[in-house]
Amino acid sequence: MKGLKGKAAIVTGGSRGIGKATVERLLEEGVKVLFCGRNEKTGLATLAEFKQKYGDAVFFIACDMEAKETPAMLVSKARELFGELDFLVNNAFPFTAKALDATYEDWQHAFMAGPAAYARMIAEFVKQREKKEGAIVCISSISGHIAQPMRWTYNAAKGAVKQLIRCAAMDLAPAIRVNCISPAWVWTDEVAKATPDGTRASVPQAWDEYHLLQKLQEPSQIAATVAFLLSDDAAVVTGHDLYADSGYLAMGPEGLGKTANFAGSV
Ligand SMILES: NC(=O)c1ccc[n+]([C@@H]2O[C@H](COP(=O)([O-])OP(=O)(O)OC[C@H]3O[C@@H](n4cnc5c(N)ncnc54)[C@H](OP(=O)(O)O)[C@@H]3O)[C@@H](O)[C@H]2O)c1
Repeated sequence: MKGLKGKAAIVTGGSRGIGKATVERLLEEGVKVLFCGRNEKTGLATLAEFKQKYGDAVFFIACDMEAKETPAMLVSKARELFGELDFLVNNAFPFTAKALDATYEDWQHAFMAGPAAYARMIAEFVKQREKKEGAIVCISSISGHIAQPMRWTYNAAKGAVKQLIRCAAMDLAPAIRVNCISPAWVWTDEVAKATPDGTRASVPQAWDEYHLLQKLQEPSQIAATVAFLLSDDAAVVTGHDLYADSGYLAMGPEGLGKTANFAGSV
């Protein structure tokens, strides 16, 4: 992809899942990356794996995106390591799924570690850089578009991401492009937790069929769309929510039509 090689990026939550695949895709494209995660052991294991494959272009810091000091610290660390910073990928986000039972603390966590952390990272990215041009991608979700049972906190927080990127895209134009991506069901630890025995083989067929493409998504597929939105190939894309969802949001309540016989008439 155009305009990635030699650039520098921050990826929040890069030690596992979609974030990890994004770090790897960017390293493959020749981007230097600083990523973070809360668990130091997991982060350092991922760092060692990448260093072996890609050399010294990758760095890890253990931190919590909800903490007040994290955004300023992460961006300043990236500037120290890379000199300049070109890209930001806001990926870490709490999967807090509460509804009527949500406490004050649940709401605080869902928003402060979610869309507010995304916004605070964007603000630091803008404040601390000297370079004008840049690109930002935030990971949203199909959950920001639809109702799902007992998920007020997660779905409301994901819905906020879309409005955040629109406002940021307006205020940061024309130098910095800001977009988000809405994946559907991606095979990561969070989805594995919901399977009968945590294995890919135990994924119910029904989950594949939530998607027009009839397959659970892979983290590397979402990472490819992140790389595209950061690249110069997406030079005219900003304020956009890319449905990287294998057709999930295009489908209606009739699903793939297995239970609907209506064929229309002439
Ligand atoms: N998986 C899906 O089906 C799916 C679908 C749509 C959208 N998404 C979105 O995609 C993004 C990534 O999801 P995923 O499934 O890849 O998650 P994941 O496998 O649970 O990985 C999350 C990553 O973020 C880090 N992280 C989480 N909370 C953090 C915090 N407060 N501060 C710093 N790091 C944090 C985790 O490391 P530590 O645990 O060590 O902190 C880990 O590296 C999220 O925004 C999620 O909402 C996922």
